[in-house]
Amino acid sequence: MSEVHKPVLLNEVIESFADFKNRVDLTFFDGTYGRGGHFREILNTYHPHLAILTDQDSAAIEKARTDWQTAAAQNKVKILHQNFSMFAMENEVPLDMILLDLGVSSPQLDQPERGFSFNKDGPLDMRMNQNAKLTAAEIVNQYEADDLTEIFKTYGEIYTSGRVVRAIVNDRVEKPFQTTLQLAQMIERVDGWHKKGFHPATQYFMALRLVVNRELQVIEDAIPRLINQLLDGGRISVITFHSLEDRIIKNLFKDSELGFLVNKKVIVPTEEECKINPRARSAKLRIFQKGKMPEKPDKFAARRALRIMDDA
Ligand SMILES: C[S@@+](CC[C@H](N)C(=O)[O-])C[C@H]1O[C@@H](n2cnc3c(N)ncnc32)[C@H](O)[C@@H]1O
Repeated sequence: MSEVHKPVLLNEVIESFADFKNRVDLTFFDGTYGRGGHFREILNTYHPHLAILTDQDSAAIEKARTDWQTAAAQNKVKILHQNFSMFAMENEVPLDMILLDLGVSSPQLDQPERGFSFNKDGPLDMRMNQNAKLTAAEIVNQYEADDLTEIFKTYGEIYTSGRVVRAIVNDRVEKPFQTTLQLAQMIERVDGWHKKGFHPATQYFMALRLVVNRELQVIEDAIPRLINQLLDGGRISVITFHSLEDRIIKNLFKDSELGFLVNKKVIVPTEEECKINPRARSAKLRIFQKGKMPEKPDKFAARRALRIMDDA
C-alpha cells in the first residue's frame, strides 16, 4: 500500500509563484493537500506567514495534522477537513497564492479499499470524502439506463456505451455490482480487450468518479469564488488531469474580468517527468493572476523620447 505521492509539475508550480519570493506576509492556500508534496516545496522556497490546507479525504487530513502539529499550534498552518468549494463559500480570508492539484492522489488510487482502481479488487466506492453519501455502487445499481448512458457520454466521452449499459441493467437484477473487478470484468467481457492499449474500463471508471465526487461542478462553483478571494497581484495555479476539467479552468480564467491568464499556452510535464512518473502524463497547469496585466515594456519609448528632445 503506497503512502507516497510524487508531486506533479513541481518545478513549474513553484515557478508560477516566483513573484512572491522575497515576501514574508503571504497567505497560501493549498486546496488539495494530498500528502503535501507541493506544500513542502512551497515552504522550501517561499515564506508564507499563514498556510491554509484543505483536503476532503480524512486520511490526508489525519496525516497533515500529524506532520504539521507544531506549525498548527503556532497558528502558522491551518488544516481543514473540507472540500475546497466549501472553504471558498464560507471563508473570506484574502489570499496571495492558491494551488489546486485536482483529481486523486496515489494513496487513494493504490488502496483497493477506496475503489478507484479497475485493476485492484475493492468495494465499488470512489468517494474522495469518506463521509459523502453517494458511491459508485449506488450509481451503477440504482440509476436508470438513460442516466447511465448520459453519465458515460458526458463524463467519460463514451458514445457507444449501449452494450455495457444493457449488461449493467441485466446483471444487477441477479447480482448487484459490489466490487471494482466485478464491473471491470463485465466491461472487458462486453467491450472486448486484447490486453493491449487502454483497458476499456478506464473511461467508465473516470466517468463514475467524476460524478461521485461532483468534480466538474465543484471547480465551476469554487474557482470564481477563489479568484474573488485573491488579493490584487495574487495568483491561482491549477493542475488538471482530464480534458473536461482543463477546458473549464481555461474558460473560467480566460473569461474572468478580474485578472488574466499568465501563460497563454498550457504548461505540460516534460518527457523526463512522464518517464519517472507516468501519472503525470495527462497533467496540465494553468495560472491566473488577479489584477491588471502589466504593460509590455515599450522597446521604442526611449528612442521616441530622444526624437522629441531633438525636435524641441
Ligand atoms: C492529486 S492529489 C494532490 C497531491 C498533492 N498536491 C501532493 O503533492 O501531495 C489530490 C488531492 O486533493 C483532494 N481533493 C480533490 N478534490 C478536492 C476538493 N474538491 N476539495 C478538497 N480536496 C480535494 C483529494 O482527496 C486528494 O487528496
